[in-house]
Amino acid sequence: MVNTLDQVTPTQVESTTKAPIQETLLTPRFYTTDFEAAANLSLTEQEIELNAMLTEMRKDYNRHHFVRDEEFNTGSWDHLDETVKKGFIEYLERSCISEFSGFLLFKELSRKLRGRNPILSEIFHLMARDEARHAGFLNKAMADFNLSLDLGRITKTRTYTFFPLEWVIYTVYLSEKIGYWRYIIIFNHLEKHPEKLFYPIFKKFENWCQDENRHGDIFTALLRSQPKLWNTWQSRLWSRFFLLSVFATHTLTVHERASFYESLGLNATEFDQEVIRKTNQTSARAFPSILDVDSPEFYPRLQRCSKRNLKIKEIGESNVPKIVKFLSQLPLIAGIFGDLLRIYLLKPIDAEALRGTVH
Ligand SMILES: [Fe+2]
Ligand SMILES: [Fe+2]
Repeated sequence: MVNTLDQVTPTQVESTTKAPIQETLLTPRFYTTDFEAAANLSLTEQEIELNAMLTEMRKDYNRHHFVRDEEFNTGSWDHLDETVKKGFIEYLERSCISEFSGFLLFKELSRKLRGRNPILSEIFHLMARDEARHAGFLNKAMADFNLSLDLGRITKTRTYTFFPLEWVIYTVYLSEKIGYWRYIIIFNHLEKHPEKLFYPIFKKFENWCQDENRHGDIFTALLRSQPKLWNTWQSRLWSRFFLLSVFATHTLTVHERASFYESLGLNATEFDQEVIRKTNQTSARAFPSILDVDSPEFYPRLQRCSKRNLKIKEIGESNVPKIVKFLSQLPLIAGIFGDLLRIYLLKPIDAEALRGTVH
């Protein structure tokens, strides 16, 4: 039987229910889509690949992976520096919401496609299984710090953003692949620097990220099964747009929580750049066009967006009248959009031309 979220979420958490972080442009969203379009997707172009992925998902390699072993129960994290703890809890929360958002979308897709598109319905069902485990495991980690999220309540109170199916395919693909790189880069780093491993959840990241990698591969097949998502000029513009949105969000959030990454011994900027470079490179297997992240303008402009974002936050938290806040934030917001536009207009890399040579 497949796990549902109820089975993996602690029923008796002796902790305070945490009020979710304020929703901003950067917080992970909950999505809904055109389920009718999903049911009518023709998969013939990638049927072999999707069936192979389905067989792989049924094997459920991580069935026994998300178990809280001794280390979770015997460890103590009271000694952690307050800033580190705060940054870590925010990291857990953001990751939990993001995993849970995937769970809700996949579960709904699976339900709506039942009997109409059986391959996809089962694939989404199995992906929802994985995301439920991930979200539940993160929520239990939060409970170690006497906090947990009431995911049932969040499901009802959070706003759902409607995305056309095409946008869902681009963005979920990217969030799975960027998720894979985030997890594996942290895992590899901590393997080399075990003294920095301050909480056992990081040890779970190696197998965990394989789930995300498989989900990403399923979305590669889905994307490639729809020629209009990769062989039109519009698809080239959308690909670059979603890559840039995901990378900008990543840069801004990583720098907002730089102290957390530094507590792991990671330099926030280097970590951010590596995640972006790897994700961009991987995307060449699915997207028709990717970004030139090695352009001398690319990263400095992103970094300037991040600095401006921190300044906007600082003004937002200051004690000045709202209108003064707004007027001092406005040029910074305009600056961010200006830089993002300039990055968007940089000469892209034609991934279709690279196809067959990218590994
Ligand atoms: Fe996940
Ligand atoms: Fe995933």
